[in-house]
Amino acid sequence: MPAPNFDVIVSLAKRRGFVFPSSEIYGGMAGFWDYGPLGVELKNNIKAAWWRHMVHLRDDVVGLDASIVMNPRVWEASGHVAGFSDPMVDCRSCKNRFREDDLKGKPSEIACPNCGNRGTLTEARQFNLMFATHVGPVADTASVAYLRPETAQAMFVQFENVATSMRRKLPFGIAQIGRSFRNEITPGNFIFRLREFEQMEMEFFVHPRDEDRWFAHWVEARHAWWTDVLGISDERLRLRPHEADELSHYSKQTTDIEYEYPIGWSELEGVADRTDFDLRAHAAGSGKKLEVFDEEANEHIVPYVIEPAMGVDRAFLTVLVDGYTEEQLEKEKRVVLRIRPELAPIKAAVMPLLRNRSELVERARALTADLKRLVPAMYDDTASIGKLYRRQDEIGTPFCVTVDVESLDDGAATIRERDSMTQERVSLDLVPGRVADLVAGRTGWQGVPRE
Ligand code: GAP
Repeated sequence: MPAPNFDVIVSLAKRRGFVFPSSEIYGGMAGFWDYGPLGVELKNNIKAAWWRHMVHLRDDVVGLDASIVMNPRVWEASGHVAGFSDPMVDCRSCKNRFREDDLKGKPSEIACPNCGNRGTLTEARQFNLMFATHVGPVADTASVAYLRPETAQAMFVQFENVATSMRRKLPFGIAQIGRSFRNEITPGNFIFRLREFEQMEMEFFVHPRDEDRWFAHWVEARHAWWTDVLGISDERLRLRPHEADELSHYSKQTTDIEYEYPIGWSELEGVADRTDFDLRAHAAGSGKKLEVFDEEANEHIVPYVIEPAMGVDRAFLTVLVDGYTEEQLEKEKRVVLRIRPELAPIKAAVMPLLRNRSELVERARALTADLKRLVPAMYDDTASIGKLYRRQDEIGTPFCVTVDVESLDDGAATIRERDSMTQERVSLDLVPGRVADLVAGRTGWQGVPRE
């Protein structure tokens, strides 16, 4: 099935409580979105999957959680105040504004993509993307500070504190998950390009002689994470090395991991070789030496940095787009969010077959409470079983558990698996453990088709 268009995803996201427009009752605000009850769960699960693989499962990476507002000298030294900008082109006729890299040709030679007029596009002009604010009671130039446009700089300016406190030798990495802010001129495509978003970045410090080996390692490891951990279809992923003229001001080589969205191939994550650009810039800016001692060469060196950097919101969007499937059943169509059980906001939904039978309701509620101790679970009896299944399919719940009249005799319930729609009959007291094992992948599914 081809990727669904964004309208379908935006509508599902709103209808089922994943993502809402920010401050919607006031007309919303371009580039800002809120994560609803199911969205926050899915987003947390994506972040946990990244942290587990980048920090907990490795012994050469440690974490950091830095403040969003930093000393403004950080952003002067890093080059962001002077150079973090996008070239933009305006149409003199319809007043629309475009990113130059989205235009298919030179502004002077093409028609405006919006109004179709020729000769109305301006030459590209640079727009700085930094969000400025004021710290303290006086709003003057001395109190200007910035909301960080990337999480990475904290890892550079805390490099020495982390290396010393954790007694680290090369190679080692510092990982961080956190909010970043960019005054994007053309936010859009739902949560693809935001003004406030979350990044997951890791700065991996290596000896300069090992630069290429680690760059190749991280490109491969990050690609494998998208397929093996997030479960994204490999045929919709590709690696794209940057051309020399598109490299960021700090990068010597960058490879993007791209996904084939309905809007075309677009960046999910970038792996950049930042060399010693940032540590040298901050050493010059702060007057402090940012070096490590290389025992082999018996000298102090400035490490190089390999950086895998990705956006949480884009990962979220990709999980929705990639997991969305429409299936034609015998009598009806069903929408299924085929996402990994460990990413699903709710792992199990419990429902009584008859909601007017108090014994069934009681057992189902008690089972939900038992399940909740092990996995996020919910109870629902607000519609017929068929409808309840469809609702859970649409939000990606991997297991539905039904308590029926037979349960009162055999003390068992039926577990139904989302993708195959096959079922297992399991003793009520074993259901929570069975579901938890299935979600964690500790055991396999043995369902049989429904009679
Ligand atoms: N520290 C390097 C850095 O920030 P980047 O390519 O500008 O590099 C890294 O950003 C990732 O952050 C991107 O691959 C993308 O997933 C995410 N990202 C960047 N700008 C974004 C925006 N405006 N909205 C949502 N995600 C964004």
